[in-house]
Amino acid sequence: MPKTEGHIVTVGVTGASGALLAQKALALLDEDPRVARVHLVVTEAGQRLLAEELLLSSGDLKKLPARLLGRPSKKIAALPNQDIGAAIASGSYPVDAMLVIPCSMGTLAAIACGMSDDLVSRAADVMLKESRKLVLCVRDTPFSRIHLENMLRAQQAGAVIMPAIPAFYHKPRTIDDLVSQYVCRVLAQIGLPQETMYRWEGSARIEKAKS
Ligand SMILES: Cc1cc2nc3c(=O)[nH]c(=O)nc-3n(C[C@H](O)[C@H](O)[C@H](O)COP(=O)(O)O)c2cc1C
Repeated sequence: MPKTEGHIVTVGVTGASGALLAQKALALLDEDPRVARVHLVVTEAGQRLLAEELLLSSGDLKKLPARLLGRPSKKIAALPNQDIGAAIASGSYPVDAMLVIPCSMGTLAAIACGMSDDLVSRAADVMLKESRKLVLCVRDTPFSRIHLENMLRAQQAGAVIMPAIPAFYHKPRTIDDLVSQYVCRVLAQIGLPQETMYRWEGSARIEKAKS
């Protein structure tokens, strides 16, 4: 299959706290001219999360991207998580990168042991077997030994483990400041650095500004 101009990205949303992270990632990907297409897959627990944290009731799956963004999207298409025959379930389909944001401990475990029984875990499995970029935005606290071992296993298989841990060095004032900086770091991992991302330039710069 000829490669489409622009990045093709899969976004998996699972039932870990952090629906705002998924919403911000989708908004930035949708606005990014370097991105051609986004395949969105939400697990059943992920749908529940969207309802709990964003008050988004489950409805017509096709309309989910528009309900998440608050406007229609030409790039983002939602796929049923049960559709293990979707294009992204095959290595022959050229997905450049996949985010699982947020990534539950359940989906982490499935990915770490190659249990590809839904589209999110199968698409992630394909990314690993094809040596493509897979970023797992894991979230829970505290982590058990099982969680930590699964993270190590996934990382050793090629995934980037990017726990949903906010930074504070950019002096965030709002939740959006925290969310944006984290999501920008995630997008930088898949070759889509954002202009709005804060870049630390060393404490010396701050000291100079104070004097
Ligand atoms: C409101 C809510 C918050 C949750 N937060 C987390 C979380 O932060 N991390 C996690 O691993 N599981 C969390 N869970 C539990 C997962 O949703 C649950 O383990 C689920 O089976 C994961 O399924 P999935 O990986 O298919 O999405 C939460 C569940 C609910 C209802």
